[in-house]
Amino acid sequence: TGAVLVDSSDGKGIIQKADWTVASPDDAITKFGVKAPVVIAKENGFFFPGFIGKSRCTRLVLGRVANDCIDTHIHASQYPNAGIFGKSTLLDWLTTYTFPLESSYGNVKSPMYKDAVEPPDPLTRANKVYNRLINRTLANGTTTASYYATIHLEATNLLAQIAFQKGQRAYIGRVCMDRPETCPDYYRDESTEETITNTKASIKFCRELDPSGELLAHIITPRFAPSCLPETLSQLGALAKDEDLRVQTHISENLNEVELVRELFPDQKSYADVYDHHGLLTAKTILAHAVHLSKEEMRLVKQRNSKISHCPASNSALGSGFCPVRQMLDEGLEVGLGTDVSGGYSPSILDAARNACIVSRHVGHLNNGDSKYNLGVSEALWLGTMGGAKVVGMEGRLGGFEEGMLWDVQEINLGEVGEDGQGEDTGVDIFGWERWDDRVAKWLWNGDERTVGRVWVGGRLVHERR
Ligand code: GUN
Ligand code: FE
Repeated sequence: TGAVLVDSSDGKGIIQKADWTVASPDDAITKFGVKAPVVIAKENGFFFPGFIGKSRCTRLVLGRVANDCIDTHIHASQYPNAGIFGKSTLLDWLTTYTFPLESSYGNVKSPMYKDAVEPPDPLTRANKVYNRLINRTLANGTTTASYYATIHLEATNLLAQIAFQKGQRAYIGRVCMDRPETCPDYYRDESTEETITNTKASIKFCRELDPSGELLAHIITPRFAPSCLPETLSQLGALAKDEDLRVQTHISENLNEVELVRELFPDQKSYADVYDHHGLLTAKTILAHAVHLSKEEMRLVKQRNSKISHCPASNSALGSGFCPVRQMLDEGLEVGLGTDVSGGYSPSILDAARNACIVSRHVGHLNNGDSKYNLGVSEALWLGTMGGAKVVGMEGRLGGFEEGMLWDVQEINLGEVGEDGQGEDTGVDIFGWERWDDRVAKWLWNGDERTVGRVWVGGRLVHERR
């Protein structure tokens, strides 16, 4: 077993000591020389201290399975549509399902309300959705999430407030979209000025909630190149630079989208070049999808040290294509995982890790059955933890259990099957003879909310399954 000493007195929850040779709580107290809170592994489980080192392989330590879990791309506002996408692909999915739902958090003229006798209160609706979504992501072990809200300032600030109050580490994006050719009349900012003013107001709101920006921060969020006026992209780039903030957007998800960008931005060489031209390709930029990037674009992304959020469930659901993750890793790009709710059907990063494994096998099939494209269990879990930590600019702070890192952890309970064949129903049946890496594999492929016990963020208990 192992033990970790966490100082939660300053409200940050930094790991003071980590010792993987500790055998018992008493041993820990002796070794650490304190009686302060010691989190000790129970029997019959194991710890993930993240996945350490360049080799991207698992370092297992006896104890219980635990590791933080980072969703680098999720649309909080789209949660009610999780699983609803029919046979659509990106661009018709946006107009059919997504814009009507998102608009309903701030506009009583939303198509969602067209049959309503009395239009509901948009903020009541947003409150319901955001509370439920954050409960759900915490229950799935997501300790950090990079959120897209909607264009609405009040509802976006409400998301920030709810995430902060529940204690999830969160980056909150007020969605920017103001290009009349691509955004519906019922759901877009009136002008660049409105986009910038409301973005600044949301930045201010987030800073007032958490001046340190450690637990909660605004993230500049141009929806994607086609939805923003060029002037807006430029001003958002300048704002990100002035305020030293993260940026998130979508890139090269779908071939029709890539074509649309070519038409709307004829002067730029490529999709990636559009962002670069407007100052949005920074070391703090999270690019979702990146399914169809050219080699040259990959080089540009690498040069700018921008990050990639791989969203495999979404790419399969919307038929966007196969993201070449192995190639990206070989090129030295930083990659994390995103659920992309509701392009993705599931708010679980474990599910995203599973889908990353499956998609990588299909990529192998497309490349003469070459198994080098396969992502293994530990690699997929690495992407969801250490990979995600790098993507959100928290390398060395999140993603592992080393001294000085933050105690952002989920505790995993695997079910044990007794002599009578009965046991705790966690959906993962452990018979007792599996090796530790087999247990981790069983968790990856069959785990869900039932396997998540307690969840801490910055040393604070933020979820406990009863
Ligand atoms: N591209 C522009 N907007 C979106 C969105 O909401 N989801 C996804 N998956 N792609 C997008
Ligand atoms: Fe998305």
